[in-house]
Amino acid sequence: MRDILVAGNWKMNGDSASNSALLAGILAGMPDSERVRLLVCPPFPYLAATAHQVTGSRLALGAQTASEHAAGAYTGEVSVAMLADIGCEYVIVGHSERRSLFGESSSAVATKFEAVTAAGLTPILCVGESLDEREAGATESIIGEQLDAVLQQVGVAGLSNAVIAYEPVWAIGTGKTATPEQAQQVHRYIREKIAALDADIAAKILLLYGGSVKGDNAAGLFSMPDIDGGLIGGASLQADDFLAIANAAASI
Ligand code: 13P
Repeated sequence: MRDILVAGNWKMNGDSASNSALLAGILAGMPDSERVRLLVCPPFPYLAATAHQVTGSRLALGAQTASEHAAGAYTGEVSVAMLADIGCEYVIVGHSERRSLFGESSSAVATKFEAVTAAGLTPILCVGESLDEREAGATESIIGEQLDAVLQQVGVAGLSNAVIAYEPVWAIGTGKTATPEQAQQVHRYIREKIAALDADIAAKILLLYGGSVKGDNAAGLFSMPDIDGGLIGGASLQADDFLAIANAAASI
């Protein structure tokens, strides 16, 4: 039986009161399964309060991005050491919104990835193609380039404590989920690419799917052999919706 990771990316949503209620709802209904790991990634201002609220539970904490720099004159940035200090275990790097809206290049993403692993935290590396790229038949070459940027920076050993999330840009927030077969095809490509370098790391690495995952499509996706969980946006903002996905994971 493999582990399944269900991660909620809250993006730029919520406030103190709604977050506290959301967390209380999740904590009250988490499936009683050692195999299913749950994680929430709130916006920066709420990380410390969330860390406090989840203390002693199995709900893990992650951040949505981090600076590639260690410390110093980088106004507005947040370092990985600060995230570790307040109890984050995971950091999302290279989300497509960071790449497209904030100009993060694959090499900047790779530097962030390295900073996260160097601090002993687990990076969740997001990769994914746009609709145009898919229609042009370029899905694998785009994903391959995004992975290569990280592999060049950290080598395959650098993936030994990492998670990769395949998030097709056309499926994010659109209600258009990749079919389990479409997602599985890309996940297999990713695992085989890593296996060509290190079979052991490839077998162990968790590959998440993200893009309009809901309670009613999660089981179909997570049943595929190379889909080890989900990175959830919209459906992570309501406890019932998030728990429906967590329960689907526990049912596999
Ligand atoms: P949605 O689940 O809202 O499509 O978002 C996916 C995502 O971007 C998670 O990081």
